[in-house]
Amino acid sequence: MGDLTEKMVRGLLHDAGEIEVFLSPRGREKACALSREFSCHVMPDNQAVVDAADIVLIGVRPKQLVELAQQVTLRRDQKLISLASGVSVIELRRLFDIQCCVRAILSYAAEINRATVAIFPADPEAQTLLRSLGNLVVLASETEFELATVSACMNGWFYFLLHDLQHWLVEKGLPPERARALVTSSMEDCAAYARHQDSLSIRDLGQSIATPGTFTAQGLEMLELHQANAAWNAACEVVFDALLTQSGRGDPEAH
Ligand SMILES: NC(=O)c1ccc[n+]([C@@H]2O[C@H](COP(=O)([O-])OP(=O)(O)OC[C@H]3O[C@@H](n4cnc5c(N)ncnc54)[C@H](OP(=O)(O)O)[C@@H]3O)[C@@H](O)[C@H]2O)c1
Repeated sequence: MGDLTEKMVRGLLHDAGEIEVFLSPRGREKACALSREFSCHVMPDNQAVVDAADIVLIGVRPKQLVELAQQVTLRRDQKLISLASGVSVIELRRLFDIQCCVRAILSYAAEINRATVAIFPADPEAQTLLRSLGNLVVLASETEFELATVSACMNGWFYFLLHDLQHWLVEKGLPPERARALVTSSMEDCAAYARHQDSLSIRDLGQSIATPGTFTAQGLEMLELHQANAAWNAACEVVFDALLTQSGRGDPEAH
C-alpha cells in the first residue's frame, strides 16, 4: 500500500457504496492503519488478494511491476486497474496474462473524492468504481493517456506554484493562514469560472481580465518577459518524453 493507493482506498471506502476491500500486506503500516480505521482486510499475501477480488487494483512503482506479476496468477475473468505510470495496456496484458487491463491516474485529492481521474481504455465497470473519486475523464488512446499523466504532474506542480505565491504574500506581511486561504481560493475560483464559461477559451478568459492598463496586465507582462510559460512547457516536455521512452514509444519525431 503506497501513498497514492492509500488515498485512493480512503476515497473508495468513503464514497463508493457497498464494496469490500482486500489489501496486500506490503506497505504494512499503511495497510494495517487502514484496516483499523475502515472495515477492510489485510491479506496474508498478494495471491490471496487476487483470489478474493473481482477487480485487482495495482499501485506499485513501474519498476516493481515485473516482480509483482511473478507473484500472482489472475483469473481470466478478472479486471486489472493499474496506476503504474508509463506502462501500456499491452504491457500489462503481457505481464499479467489477462485481457481486461485498464490504466488510471489520479491525484491525492482522491482521498476527499475530489481528484481528477483519468482512465484508458473506456471500461464501464472501472468507470463506475472510480467515478466516486472525483471528476472522471476517459481518454481515447494510449498517447492521450500519457498526456493525461503529464497533466497529473501539473497537479503536483500547482502545489509549488501555490507555495511560491503564498510565500511572497507572507514575506510582504500577510499571516500564513490568510495567505493560504487567498491563494487556494483564488486557484479554485479560477478553475470554477473556467468551467462555467466553457464556450470561451481559457486564454480569452485571461485576456478579458488582463485588459490594457490593469495591474493584472502589468504583472502578466513581467511573467512573459521572464518566459514563465516556457518553463512550464519544458517541464511538460521532459515528462512526456520520459513517459514515451518508458512505454517503448519514444520517438522524438512524434511531437
Ligand atoms: N504519488 C503520486 O502522486 C502518483 C501520481 C501518479 C501516478 N502514480 C503512480 O502510482 C504508483 C504508486 O505510486 P506511489 O507514490 O503510491 O508509490 P509508493 O508510495 O512508492 O508505493 C509503492 C508501494 O508498492 C508496494 N509494493 C512494491 N512491490 C510490491 C509487491 N510486489 N506487492 C505489493 N506491493 C508492493 C510498496 O510496498 P513496500 O513499502 O512494502 O515496499 C509500496 O507500498 C506508481 O506506479 C506511480 O507511477 C503516483
